[in-house]
Amino acid sequence: MQFFLDTANIEDIKKYSTWGIIDGVTTNPSLIAKEGVSLEKRIKEIAEVVKGPISSEVISTDLDGMLKEGRAYAKWAKNIYVKVPMTAAGLQAVSVLSKEGIKTNVTLIFSAGQAILAAKAGATLISPFIGRLDDISEDGMALIADIVKIFQNYKFPTKVLVASIRHPRHVIEAAKLGADIGTMPPAVFEQLVHHPLTDSGIKKFMDDWEKVKNKQ
Ligand code: E4P
Repeated sequence: MQFFLDTANIEDIKKYSTWGIIDGVTTNPSLIAKEGVSLEKRIKEIAEVVKGPISSEVISTDLDGMLKEGRAYAKWAKNIYVKVPMTAAGLQAVSVLSKEGIKTNVTLIFSAGQAILAAKAGATLISPFIGRLDDISEDGMALIADIVKIFQNYKFPTKVLVASIRHPRHVIEAAKLGADIGTMPPAVFEQLVHHPLTDSGIKKFMDDWEKVKNKQ
């Protein structure tokens, strides 16, 4: 399973890249807005740190605008994935961009039907938002199970990028289902690292070592 970092914060991206477990980065307009920098500047900065896929989302909602932005983003770095919302115009844009060899990520997927359409349009990645489904008392992980099964049935090359991950349980369940990628905020990486038994185990080892360290 690949792990992407879901943030536009360059300090966090630099920090977690040193852990050796980050395969890519996802951003969205809200994450960029939080940073108070231009999209182009920040995406280029991220591309200096991360060699794996970097998702950069279009702002336009019409086909021409999406194509113009997508083609421009693709020139910023070799590893840019143009993130396009799941709309009819978005599907058209993905179909055109993928034929031009530009990698795409269809975002805001909330149903298996939307996932099938995005895959048929030629999306490289699709982003089902599981946390936002859970937030409205739907079952986000059931959607991942459906999509993984459907993509296997038809051998769609499109990869399932589980998005809107809120906690480690989401990561583990998505991994059990065979999802290709999980994108998560820094807080979830921190939660994944820690376990109280690891912490108490280290403390016990160190305490015991203290007692004998000066003995020959
Ligand atoms: C993914 O590409 C999105 O940026 C992200 O996962 C959305 O997460 P949220 O629902 O926590 O905003």
